[in-house]
Amino acid sequence: MTQHDTMISIRNVGKRFGPVVAVEDACFDIRRGEFFSILGASGSGKTTLLRILAGFEAATSGAVFIDGAQMDAVPPHQRPVNMVFQNYAIFPHLNVRDNIGFGLRKLKLDRAERQKRIGAMLDLIKLPGFGDRHADQLSGGQRQRVALARALILRPKVLLLDEPLGALDKQLREQMQIELRALQRSVGITFVLVTHDQEEALTLSDRIAVMADGRVLQVDTPAGLYERPCSRRVAGFVGNMNFLPARVLSQAGGATSIDIPGCGTTCSIATKRLEHCSSDISLAIRPERITLHRSRPAAPAIAVAGVLRDRMYLGERTHFQIELEPGGATVAVSSSTMKAEALGTIGPGAQVWLSWPEDALIPLGNE
Ligand SMILES: Nc1ncnc2c1ncn2[C@@H]1O[C@H](COP(=O)(O)OP(=O)(O)O)[C@@H](O)[C@H]1O
Ligand SMILES: [Mg+2]
Repeated sequence: MTQHDTMISIRNVGKRFGPVVAVEDACFDIRRGEFFSILGASGSGKTTLLRILAGFEAATSGAVFIDGAQMDAVPPHQRPVNMVFQNYAIFPHLNVRDNIGFGLRKLKLDRAERQKRIGAMLDLIKLPGFGDRHADQLSGGQRQRVALARALILRPKVLLLDEPLGALDKQLREQMQIELRALQRSVGITFVLVTHDQEEALTLSDRIAVMADGRVLQVDTPAGLYERPCSRRVAGFVGNMNFLPARVLSQAGGATSIDIPGCGTTCSIATKRLEHCSSDISLAIRPERITLHRSRPAAPAIAVAGVLRDRMYLGERTHFQIELEPGGATVAVSSSTMKAEALGTIGPGAQVWLSWPEDALIPLGNE
């Protein structure tokens, strides 16, 4: 990546609050114009890292660069960033126009220019004609759009968003996700979004940093995180995943033979896919990569017998829980409902077979 493409550079950033390590040795770059998310469970250090970028918190170690300039000594209001908070920080006593234009006052623009910019923002957030409304006459989603406009009108290089949709109900949240993404595309500003909602991060982001216990576990595209998680923790955090305990048996000619005790079978995996694992590994497999059969399939190399324990109809998809015969481990299978119906009316207790292609198995270390 060239210097030109980098908007934010986070170099070995750490933050302690007394004995608490909130962020540990974070090291990654955010590109210019990127929609970037920081994803992690509550308490993983996301807000602390965002506040360090905004300048509300000083890092204990490391450095932050924004658009090539080191930020350590730069106070929040002089950084080329703006922040949007979860709790719609808009002024209840002001109308929409004055809320959006609030930050412009210090820019000493003339009235016509100010009104022009506010009008453009009202159009951008699809609230034209709402300028005279008071904040308490707005819905949650509308208030959050006003908060976004208020941050964007100052034309920051970076917009920092801390769980901005967290307080909205599911339907409104999904609608606002689409709008947020469209808004980011139209203004072309770098967005850094903090969320604990993996679906939100996958839907919105160009790239995602996954955090746990203050550490950044992986930085990747949504597809990269989903298809090539680097550890069990990331794999378990992003989407649904089955983990099969496994043991390396032998290596020969670029292939490694692996025993999967819970399935009563062995398999062969390209050795280069095991480079980062010790001998103690798990094989991860997504529920939708497993095919369900009523009788033993002829072709695939791996076919495992099991008993159907549960079947859940979810509309477009149907989920199954299968208890494997030798190990007693339970595996989740997700199939399109059309395919599930082709299997006929099998219910709990039915004998079934599972198969999967070799490349569906993701070898992971157990650390
Ligand atoms: N001002 C503070 N003083 C002491 N501990 C803090 C402070 N802010 C955050 N922490 C601690 O740092 C850790 C990370 O918090 P935070 O960044 O808010 O996580 P997240 O936003 O991912 O939920 C937590 O253990 C939290 O209790
Ligand atoms: Mg937080």
